Amino acid sequence: MRISFCAQTDPAPWLAALQQHLPQAQVDVWHSGAARADFAIVWAAPQQFFDEQTALQAVFNMGAGVDALLQRQMRADLPIVRLNDAGMGVQMAEYVCHALIRHTRDFALFEAQAQHGLWQEPPVLDRADFPVGILGLGVLGEQVARAVQHFGFPILGWSRTARQLDGVRCFHSQAQLEAFLAGTRVLVNLLPLTPQTENLLNRDTLSQLEPGAYLINIARGRHVVDEDLLSLLDSGQMAGATLDVFRTEPLPAEHPFWRHPRVTVTPHIAGRTVLQDTVQQIVAKIQALQKGQPIEGVVDRARGY
Ligand code: NAP
Ligand code: GLV
Repeated sequence: MRISFCAQTDPAPWLAALQQHLPQAQVDVWHSGAARADFAIVWAAPQQFFDEQTALQAVFNMGAGVDALLQRQMRADLPIVRLNDAGMGVQMAEYVCHALIRHTRDFALFEAQAQHGLWQEPPVLDRADFPVGILGLGVLGEQVARAVQHFGFPILGWSRTARQLDGVRCFHSQAQLEAFLAGTRVLVNLLPLTPQTENLLNRDTLSQLEPGAYLINIARGRHVVDEDLLSLLDSGQMAGATLDVFRTEPLPAEHPFWRHPRVTVTPHIAGRTVLQDTVQQIVAKIQALQKGQPIEGVVDRARGY
């Protein structure tokens, strides 16, 4: 069995871990003209990779989101496999809880007050005033919902098809989006980027949130219309945003998000790919495929995720 590795990261630890779990396999870093492999492990692979690697039985994405991979031309019957959690869920939960609590418990205010030696207490928080709405109740959205639940905030969730989660008011489909937004004050985006979800967070939808809304975007930058978000923040209709993902990454130096007083920027680190968890998951799936067994996480290309 031959495995081709193609990602913009130091390949050495990946090759070592793969080789350790699959000693019989030939694992190589891809280069133009490389021998044809049976399986591929990729992140941001060029089109040339797919043009040349015509014998693949499956391609494994080193992340949960496959929006970039689906831009590549490849055989229609080639299974694309996304990561299912693989250590990202707990990180997403940490990130959201941090941003949520930093906002609701006024930590930015205390940091500003401390600059002036100011001792001032804000009113006591009523969690009922901060319903958290999660867009996307998939592998990661569900874990975020569970973590936020621990702190006693009301939780709403929105998905494409109907879902049932204990303690979460579940909404689904375009028809129920309005009701979901109207009941949400802290909006957490965990949707995949598809033609249906691109630009979903715009002036119209963000204006339907409760007054003083807060956005936590950890999915993709192209879900958000930046100018609309900035204008709602500037007008005071929205209270702030924590943003991990952007239309252009790295976020250009001149982008207003960098300097906006109510925007927190992080460099696409909400859910990092964890080497050991990722390798174990991919190896288990390669072994299952070789035995002709079904695997989880095969992307539905028509659906886009
Ligand atoms: P997932 O398991 O595929 O879940 C996607 C969820 O979104 C599902 O609940 C799905 O509904 C819902 N959805 C999809 N299209 C929809 C639509 N048109 N309307 C309403 N709901 C829709 O994905 P995941 O593993 O949780 O990952 C979510 C995203 O997080 C990834 O696609 C990626 O972009 C992002 N991500 C970011 C980072 C980071 O570091 N910032 C790290 C990892 C992932 P159904 O339940 O009905 O299918
Ligand atoms: C990261 O953004 C991922 O999709 O895993």
